[in-house]
Amino acid sequence: MAEIYLDNSASTRPHPEVSDFMGSIQDREYGNPSSLHQKGLDSEKLLEEARRRIAAFFSGKEDEIYFTSGGTEANNLAVKGAALRNRNRGRHLITSQIEHPSVLNCFRYLEEEEGFAVDYLPVDSRGLVDPGQVKELVNKNTILVSIMHVNNEIGSIQPLEEIGPLIKAGNPSALLHVDAVQSFARMELDLKAWQADLVSCSAHKIHGPRGAGGLWVKKGTLLQPLLHGGGQEKELRPGTENVPAAAGFGLAAQLTGESRQRKADATSSLKLAFYRTLLNSGVEFHVNGPSPEEGAVHIINLSFPALPAEALLHSLEERGIFASAGSACHSRKPEPSHILQALNLDDRRLYSALRFSFSINNSEEEVEFAAAETAEAVKELKSFLNR
Ligand SMILES: Cc1ncc(COP(=O)(O)O)c(C=O)c1O
Repeated sequence: MAEIYLDNSASTRPHPEVSDFMGSIQDREYGNPSSLHQKGLDSEKLLEEARRRIAAFFSGKEDEIYFTSGGTEANNLAVKGAALRNRNRGRHLITSQIEHPSVLNCFRYLEEEEGFAVDYLPVDSRGLVDPGQVKELVNKNTILVSIMHVNNEIGSIQPLEEIGPLIKAGNPSALLHVDAVQSFARMELDLKAWQADLVSCSAHKIHGPRGAGGLWVKKGTLLQPLLHGGGQEKELRPGTENVPAAAGFGLAAQLTGESRQRKADATSSLKLAFYRTLLNSGVEFHVNGPSPEEGAVHIINLSFPALPAEALLHSLEERGIFASAGSACHSRKPEPSHILQALNLDDRRLYSALRFSFSINNSEEEVEFAAAETAEAVKELKSFLNR
């Protein structure tokens, strides 16, 4: 049975060039980038090449890129690092209810353990924050606002070009952090329009290795390190750098970023082909979050009312189709994700939601087949439950 992988928001298959590159570095370039001999310098060169490749998606300045162990660590460093370092300027923080747990749980920690006041912005039925609400909440005590770019479960794209200037108009020294893990290298990150100070990214969402990521830190932005150790990453993220992972990340970003518009159009066509095939099948379903035309090109979240998501997911897996019920981080928990809950869906939709996420590795034939199989699985499960 052929495998059809439609869980590309959780992780993507690495580019073959990335795997080859990383393998050869692991075997041959084993020097510590801090060592002063040739082996060390060779590793350092690889690290700096990777930093240049990542920086090309931000300000172009390599000294504003810090490598981390992934998006989770980048988010922790940005949110906790900014709040703790700037707490003398104010104690008010703002985020949204639909952030990834690696952002949301930092805010909960800061609220519960460190005495910060946090506002959690709601979203509308399309999964969008209201910029007017951000404007109302920003005050002279606000030191940090963290709003994601693309949501990992429903694909909503936040209007950061509206939100960012409103934050700065309300308080020019309030920092804006953006979790761009789902959009980095796939979409333009308009840092100037967003007026962003900190942006997180991750390698395994863009055909790079798991366990590698980065944080863009605008020059002059003060952060408290989470780890203490040697002087690596300008003392903000000490520890011997994972050179193969960083190098793989850099190459993956470069390859993913090439012909970006063409790839985005192709991915969007795959998503729409999947959606239309399902629509023509006659099974009942609803789109959660933005309409298929509006949301991120690679994510669609659908509810099949009253059918348990886990049962449907397993039925799809038996047919060789890999999707997700909630985000990967939630998929082993029985309760619906906080993101779907924030959309105020009724229980019939809340417990029956599946996320399908696409990449350029999928073909149109594959996604149409997957949609037809999904329709079959829905019909089968329905008739089983109605017996
Ligand atoms: C929006 C978003 N932020 C952060 C992360 C965490 O990234 P990582 O898996 O690299 O820790 C993810 C991963 O699912 C994500 O989708």
